[in-house]
Amino acid sequence: MGRHRIAGYRDCEAALRNRDLRQALYDAGKVVMEGVLLTLHGEEHAARRTVEVRVFRRNFFHYYEKEVFPRTLAETLAPYLAAGGGDLLKIGYRLTVNLTADFAGIDRPTRSAEETEHLIAITRKLGEGATLVHSTRDHAEVSAEVAAVQAQLRERFFLPSLARRRALLAERETGSITDAELPRDVLMTLLVGNDELGLSEDQLLREIAFYLQAGAHSTANAVVHALWEVLEWADEDEDRWARLDDPVFVQHCVHESLRLHPASPEAWRTAMCPMQLAGIGPVAAQDRVELDLFLANRDAAIFGENADRFEPERTLPATVLRSGLAFGIGLHTCLGRELDGGIAARPGTDTADAQLGIVTLILVELLRRGARTIPHDPPQRDTNTSRPNWGRFPVRFTAKGAS
Ligand code: HEM
Repeated sequence: MGRHRIAGYRDCEAALRNRDLRQALYDAGKVVMEGVLLTLHGEEHAARRTVEVRVFRRNFFHYYEKEVFPRTLAETLAPYLAAGGGDLLKIGYRLTVNLTADFAGIDRPTRSAEETEHLIAITRKLGEGATLVHSTRDHAEVSAEVAAVQAQLRERFFLPSLARRRALLAERETGSITDAELPRDVLMTLLVGNDELGLSEDQLLREIAFYLQAGAHSTANAVVHALWEVLEWADEDEDRWARLDDPVFVQHCVHESLRLHPASPEAWRTAMCPMQLAGIGPVAAQDRVELDLFLANRDAAIFGENADRFEPERTLPATVLRSGLAFGIGLHTCLGRELDGGIAARPGTDTADAQLGIVTLILVELLRRGARTIPHDPPQRDTNTSRPNWGRFPVRFTAKGAS
């Protein structure tokens, strides 16, 4: 089996769109990722994705961003504001676990701190399992820990959530409730569409676990990276701080930060047949093709000579997103892209109408509260993974009324 690597933006983009390349990054993370949307291929992938995108019907993003999330944000931040600060990674996980649990269809009946902490611990461990390929820990040990939390997720959260949705489905069949009264989440959508898909209970659990961790981990990291970049960029410059009063500009900053720090610094694919690939040349069937998304997102031919720098005002070719390939492209394009990244707003857009995305909403609020790093307790990198993530990110809230 040959191995190839490409790093040019356009070459990576073409490879991500190539239907004869199948997902290969999560082979090591099978314990979490086997049989979930991101690892399926061809017709099986298309059928599952067609059902799951139905969650987004009826203006889901607008509803979530304007109605559900502002409450989650205020409730989650309140204790940290009262304490004057906290670890932004913890805050990020609290915020995003609620987000992905809502989206996946995991009920949290008590809404207690203990319940949220348990769900966060489960989610973080599932994330560690999914990205096992980059783990610096003993793989067998991590897999055993993951199996243990999968069992906890099943008993405490998944089975009750499944039972409640099955009961609602039965009510819908007798006509006592309508489709519009069913929860708007992946689990409900999969149950409604399960005649087409025929998923077992075990497959449903895996899919829900995948959603829980995929969205939470990447969103929490995106928030932390974006705050770090913005604080470094604005520093002592008053004009720059003034620009950050505009949420549309903050959205540009988030997308620029996502470009520099893609949640998946690389994508791997396996060739399904012999082919020619731009940036490589001939590729044999079963060869592995590694896409360096970290470098592709810093390709000077696309982003300019200062591609390595955080420059939220850069101009881009019309066919390139400010976030580059951070949300993927083609067959496996991120389903949470609009939820997290929003829709790129033009300068001057009325923010009441704009769909800014969850990461921007969080960053806007953090900046409004005067979130700053702490010089004698600086952020630290995560040493359990070769991915360039933060392990701790202490912040204090300096705005008046924050504590
Ligand atoms: C800043 C946050 C996020 C980033 C950077 C991100 C990034 C990505 C990337 C790069 C992929 C494609 C991977 C590949 O091609 O191999 C992907 C796929 C996916 N993401 Fe996200 N993601 C984020 C948030 C979310 C959220 C919040 C959700 C759900 C609520 C989500 C759900 C998914 C799903 C379901 C897929 C698989 C799509 C498919 O295989 O058809 N993501 N994401």
